[in-house]
Amino acid sequence: MKIFLGFVILSVLSNGIHVEGSVEIDAMLKRLNKPAVKTIYSEDGDIIDCVDIYKQPAFDHPLLKNHKIQMKPSVMLASDEEPENRKPSSSKMTVSQTWREAGDCPEGTVPILRVTREDITRASNASWFGRKAPYMASKNPDNFRLLADGTRTPRPKDRSEAFVVTVGSNYIASKSDMSVWNPSVEASDFTTSQIWMQNGPGDDFDSVEAGWAVNPDLFRDSRTRLFGYWTSDGYKTTGCFNLLCSGFVQIGKAFALGAPIKDVSVGDKQFQITVRLGKDSIGNNWWLKVGDERVGYWPGSLFTYLTHSATLVQWGGQVYSPNVRKTPHTKTQMGSGADWSRFWDTAAFHTNFRVQNTTHLFMKYPEDLTEFADEYDCYSTKLYREDPDAGFYFYFGGSGQNPRCP
Ligand SMILES: *[C@@H]1O[C@H](CO)[C@@H](O)[C@H](O)[C@H]1NC(C)=O
Ligand SMILES: *[C@@H]1O[C@H](CO)[C@@H](O)[C@H](O)[C@H]1NC(C)=O
Repeated sequence: MKIFLGFVILSVLSNGIHVEGSVEIDAMLKRLNKPAVKTIYSEDGDIIDCVDIYKQPAFDHPLLKNHKIQMKPSVMLASDEEPENRKPSSSKMTVSQTWREAGDCPEGTVPILRVTREDITRASNASWFGRKAPYMASKNPDNFRLLADGTRTPRPKDRSEAFVVTVGSNYIASKSDMSVWNPSVEASDFTTSQIWMQNGPGDDFDSVEAGWAVNPDLFRDSRTRLFGYWTSDGYKTTGCFNLLCSGFVQIGKAFALGAPIKDVSVGDKQFQITVRLGKDSIGNNWWLKVGDERVGYWPGSLFTYLTHSATLVQWGGQVYSPNVRKTPHTKTQMGSGADWSRFWDTAAFHTNFRVQNTTHLFMKYPEDLTEFADEYDCYSTKLYREDPDAGFYFYFGGSGQNPRCP
């Protein structure tokens, strides 16, 4: 509580007053940046600290004081495709991050993106550093969020989303292959391509999320970065991006959450990443896999509703901005910045989406999919397949402000 008040003061100070050396920033940096066994200086300017796996930020969490680290998921989660659907060629989409060219982390450590003093002072709201803003319900009665039980609740007023959603089962895993782009984003906004898995009532739900994001308010540039996100109270007081609060337990050495993805699509030269979220019956931990690599997990003890299963799985994009649902609309783009009508030419997509429920042995194509766009003229959607034997593609995104979205 004391620290929280400190940050409130800090964020007032940061509107122009010199805060360097402030006690609050020092305390925050100390909490986020654990002592490094080795430090890797990436040519793109990022600093990656290799931190002892037992000394990472997660273990500061009061619920994780006696947490027994799980080094790998149990067998069930590992077999995540029906054997006949496993395509060796398509699973060989290699994805890498730029910092890997400058070195690797030693055994027993995990790569964590260092937070700098500039990151915190630059953030538009330092007391909220690393977090999505809480849902502030839109007053427009036409705007609803679909709930797991099929009912609707008001949509948040500062986010615009375009997604395909499945509800009506108890999901324990999901995946998709998503194309990676670098849409342009206004300074205080962010844009994502992501998977969401959620459970819980209207304003108090659990959510685990992962994909890529462009978030210049949080990072020091507009590059496309890998992210994970969690909350256990509908974004109100818990959770954060990546390892920017205690929660996520990193296990793998191949990826640093928050670091840029090396290969980003340009025109018809396109790149995809495979993202998987899945709950392990041991500890009810929610694992994140990228490509074939296990990144780590959100421990089951963080959650109330997700300890059993998710009741909603969503694939698509999110734009956060104070200037959505408004005129003039933000120019922040979603996906590639192109709308669905460009199809695979230049529109962003998710494909090979799969879910696994508590009775499935493997991942399956979801039974019911519903398309949704908050502002169709700004960020559109299209679930499409070329012929009945082909797999579905979910095209989404757009330019934000344009003649139809003034
Ligand atoms: C920071 O953001 C939070 C959540 O949106 C809000 O409650 C708080 O008032 C903001 N603080 C400042 C100083 O803007
Ligand atoms: C899992 O999905 C199958 C259909 O694929 C359905 O028949 C079954 O009832 C579902 N199980 C649960 C627990 O929802």
